[in-house]
Amino acid sequence: MEDVAKGVVPTTFWASDDDVAELELGVMSWAHAESGTSEVGLRELNAVVGRGHGFDTVKPLKLMQKIIQLWCPPTGTVVDPFAGSGTTGHAVLALNESEGADRRFILMEQGRPERGDSYARTLTAQRLAKVVSGDWSNGKGKPVEGGFEFRQLTKNIDAPALLQMEREEMVDIVVSSYFDSSRRRGPNLERVGGPENRYLVARNSEDEGFYLVWGGSENNADFDEDVYEACVAEGNNAELKPKYHVYGRYNLFSTPGVHFYQIPDRILADFGLDVRTEAYTEVER
Ligand SMILES: C[S@@+](CC[C@H](N)C(=O)[O-])C[C@H]1O[C@@H](n2cnc3c(N)ncnc32)[C@H](O)[C@@H]1O
Repeated sequence: MEDVAKGVVPTTFWASDDDVAELELGVMSWAHAESGTSEVGLRELNAVVGRGHGFDTVKPLKLMQKIIQLWCPPTGTVVDPFAGSGTTGHAVLALNESEGADRRFILMEQGRPERGDSYARTLTAQRLAKVVSGDWSNGKGKPVEGGFEFRQLTKNIDAPALLQMEREEMVDIVVSSYFDSSRRRGPNLERVGGPENRYLVARNSEDEGFYLVWGGSENNADFDEDVYEACVAEGNNAELKPKYHVYGRYNLFSTPGVHFYQIPDRILADFGLDVRTEAYTEVER
């Protein structure tokens, strides 16, 4: 902690939607007065839903609001895959109300199914419903503009589901599942579109191309020498460098410049699922 410099953080990263200010935050901590504490977070949660919810790792609203103001443009979408008690959603709703912003949020929460407690519904969604209606437990809430939908996952992501996917769905899955431990903290893939590309779908920060050999469930092709040459041509056209990251069903052409990712195994592994047995849980609506 000694190495963490204290400083005041700028109020926004976004000069405007089109004009993004370059900002190096560096190593910086926020004083409690700037960002709140988890004790404050707990009090804020209790104020909305009352005590007895049993959730104690609550982030303070001020902290989430600060992060959102810094990193999300006023009409952007905030995604929190570990939503917990829903502080992020609460912060977005409160900021929309107080600064006239128009941000949206997507929260994900698994709850604690092993304890029969899916608190995504009974805590996360309940908090947000109370924030919207103003019906706070302490009686001090006021209704705010906005709302949300609660959705429970319905689709299994498993090997058969992946193998049924059409090309566009598979492009989404490839880009979102891609994970490379050597770049764990690095930027994600950037999509490359265009009708001129039959295989090229994305590039990484080192200007290497990602190629998808997938025509859909009924129309598939294997990776062979002809496909390799087509990938090289598309990569050259897009001014990309070797190596060639290729996603496909079967690899019939091994060559040193190609890193082959087999579908579905590699995708399931990147999602952290057991390739042979495990489905991505929950089928209810
Ligand atoms: C530390 S809490 C987040 C607290 C939240 N920032 C707040 O203010 O309430 C982390 C949450 O992530 C959830 N979580 C962990 N792994 C998850 C997963 N794979 N999918 C969805 N939620 C997950 C946990 O159930 C827990 O509620």
